[in-house]
Amino acid sequence: MMSITQNYTKHFLTLNEFEDKQINEMIQRALQFKAKRASLDLSNQYAVNLFFEDSTRTHKSFEMAERKSGMQVLEFTPETSSLKKGETLYDTVKTFEAIGVDMIVVRHSQEAFYNELLERSDLTCSIVNGGDGAGQHPSQSLLDLMTIYEEFNTFEQLKIAIAGDIRHSRVAKSNAMILTRLGAEVIFTGPTEWMDPSLEAFGTYKEIDECIKEVDVFMLLRVQHERHEKGEKSYSKQAYLKQFGLTAEREQQMADHAIVMHPAPVNRGVEIATELVECNRSRIFQQMANGVYARMAIIEYVLNKS
Ligand code: CP
Repeated sequence: MMSITQNYTKHFLTLNEFEDKQINEMIQRALQFKAKRASLDLSNQYAVNLFFEDSTRTHKSFEMAERKSGMQVLEFTPETSSLKKGETLYDTVKTFEAIGVDMIVVRHSQEAFYNELLERSDLTCSIVNGGDGAGQHPSQSLLDLMTIYEEFNTFEQLKIAIAGDIRHSRVAKSNAMILTRLGAEVIFTGPTEWMDPSLEAFGTYKEIDECIKEVDVFMLLRVQHERHEKGEKSYSKQAYLKQFGLTAEREQQMADHAIVMHPAPVNRGVEIATELVECNRSRIFQQMANGVYARMAIIEYVLNKS
């Protein structure tokens, strides 16, 4: 995993650059936006969302957050852009900076894509990481923190299982790091071959049937087939659900207060039984709703710093 080489305060790259206090402030601001106790008027500010990997939630949630904040949003489609003529990400970003964009949200398959951008140029616009390969997904982490905080009012002492394809998941990395820092106990569960040795300091491994009864939060992940290398072990849908997934039998063993989370998209019937996606414990659609407000808090932070 590449590290960030400078203190880029006007950008939103990973949560590692933020102090606990700042993260808590952003959660509180997101809750205020959700409760309509605060609003933004950024009608003279411009945003563009450069999504080079597929996305529904992050892309449209950022766009909704930008529009709710009053921002002007420029359209961008990689397939009809000058990327087709060989333009690089760096030159695309410099172009949007030159024409006056204030904030650029980027999702890219290259881990830590932002390092090259920020090392080559002292950009006047803010860069927001919408997910960098198998690196980090900080806006997802912020909305996940907001959702957990809404439920428990704290992170300390919570037992949070992150289940599934940990090694290929930027959500797992971002969340394991920040949740541990904020005082939660992280448990990893899923196929052992998909565990990530680089995350050993942030949690311990347990079989699903060993941890399901004790967790406060059961956070599921999609199997990231698009990041699997040739020869990667594969499972049938039924076999995966039975061995590693959240079945109705396992859900019944969870503590009364425990919740189920998933960053989505969900593969119903693989990591989670179809009927559990919208069960009482599920916060999956609440996470999506919270994403808009968490992203408004991010927009406010980076544009204030700019
Ligand atoms: N959770 C998430 O990142 O979803 P998308 O890939 O649809 O943006």
